[in-house]
Amino acid sequence: MKENQPLHTSQTSDEVPLRPGLEGVPVTRSAICDIDGLQGKLSYRGYSIAELTAQSSFLETSYLLIWGNLPNPQQLRDFEKEIQMHRRVSFRVRDMMKCFPASGHPMDALQSSAASLGLFYSRRAIDNPQYVYDAVVRLIAKIPTMVAAFQLIRKGQDPIQPRDDLAYSANFLYMLTEREQDPLAARIFDKCLILHAEHSLNASTFSARVTASTLTDPYAVVASAVGTLAGPLHGGANEDVLTMLETIGSPENAGSYLDQAIAKKQKIMGFGHREYRVKDPRASILQELAEELFARFGSDEMYEVAKALEKEAEPRLGSKGIYPNVDFYSGLVYRKLGIPRDLFTPIFAISRVSGWLAHWREQLGTNRIFRPSQIYKGEQNRKWLPPEQRNTTNLQNPQI
Ligand code: CMC
Repeated sequence: MKENQPLHTSQTSDEVPLRPGLEGVPVTRSAICDIDGLQGKLSYRGYSIAELTAQSSFLETSYLLIWGNLPNPQQLRDFEKEIQMHRRVSFRVRDMMKCFPASGHPMDALQSSAASLGLFYSRRAIDNPQYVYDAVVRLIAKIPTMVAAFQLIRKGQDPIQPRDDLAYSANFLYMLTEREQDPLAARIFDKCLILHAEHSLNASTFSARVTASTLTDPYAVVASAVGTLAGPLHGGANEDVLTMLETIGSPENAGSYLDQAIAKKQKIMGFGHREYRVKDPRASILQELAEELFARFGSDEMYEVAKALEKEAEPRLGSKGIYPNVDFYSGLVYRKLGIPRDLFTPIFAISRVSGWLAHWREQLGTNRIFRPSQIYKGEQNRKWLPPEQRNTTNLQNPQI
C-alpha cells in the first residue's frame, strides 16, 4: 500500500486485508528507535544499545530518547537535579497506596498510582513546553518511588524517603531494600534500565501512542501503557521465565522440557519476538551482566538451567527464528540483586516510561487520532422481541 493512501469507508471489507495484531503494518514514522531484527541490532536515536549500555546512564539515555540528542554537561546536571527534586510523592498518594490490598500485583498498584498523578498535575496543557518538561521529570522521578513504596507498604511498613545523595538507580535500590547497595549492583541495575528503556512500537508503546493521540494528559498515557505492559506476552514474561527454569530444575532436563512443551504447542517463556529472528541483542548484554554479578556475588544454579535451555532450544526452534528475548536473562539479574519476582515488570515500567514519553512527544508533534477499522462479521437487521418471545438457546452464555 502507498504511504498515506487513505482507506475509504466506502471500500467493502473484502477489499481491505485484515492484519491481526497489526503485524508488519506501519502506523507512524518515528526517529526514536531502530531495530534490525535479522542482524540483531538495536539503536536509540542512532546510538547502538551496546554503546549506550557501556557508556551512558539511564537518565542520560532517557534525555536522549525524549529530547532527541545527548545532553551537554549543564543539561544533564539540570535534568538529574530536577529528577532528584521530584522523587518524593505526596502523602496523599502514599495513603491511597496503603488502602491497596497487600496481595495485589505491584503492576496494578503502579497503574493506579501512576494514573492518580493526573489528579495532582493534570492541566492538559500539552502545548506548553514547560508542562511537557515537568510531566517528563515527574513521571521519571516518581514512578520508582511509587514502586518502592508499594513494596514496603505491602510488608506493613512505611515507605522510606528518597536519599538526595544517591544517584537514580542507587536511590531506587535503597528505597526498595532499605539499605545502600554495592556500587556494582547499582551500576548493573542502571544498565538494565537502559536496555529496557525503549523498543519501538511494542504493545505498551502503541498503547501509549493511542492514548496520546486523544490529547489526554501524560499521566493517563503512562497509566494505559503500564496496564498493557503487565501481560505475560509482554513485560510479564520475565516473571514466568524464572518459574519455568525452576520447573525444569536442572540442566539435564532442558531438552525433554522443550520437547514436551513444543509437542503441546506451549510457548517457551523468554523466547521469540515479533521483531527478531536472531538472539535479541539485549539478551546477550543481560547475559554478560548476569555473569558479572555472579562473578562478584556468587552464581545462581538457575543460570546453568537457562544456558542449557538456550543451547537445547537452538536446534529445536532456531529454524523458526525463535531465540532468547530481553526477558530471558533479566529475571536472573534481578533475582541476584535481591528483587522480588513480582517487581520485575514494575522495574521494566520504571525504565520504559522514558520510551513511552519519547513516543508521547513524538505523537503530539504530528498527531492524528488512532481509529483503525474493522471487518464486521456480526448479525444484521435483527428485530427486537419481548423477553418471553426470545429463543435463548443460541446465547453465548446460557447462564444469562
Ligand atoms: N516458544 C515456542 N514457540 C514459539 C514461541 C515461543 N516462545 N514464540 C513463538 N513461537 C512459535 C509459535 O508457536 C508459532 O509457531 P507456528 O507457526 O508453528 O504456529 C510461531 O512461532 C509464530 O508465533 P507467534 O505467536 O505468531 O509469534 P508472535 O510474533 O505473535 O509472538 C511473542 C511474539 C513474543 C508474543 C511470542 O514469541 C511469545 O509468546 N513468546 C513468549 C512470551 C515472551 O517471552 N514474551 C516477551 C516478549 S519480549 C519483551 C516484550 O516485548 O515485552
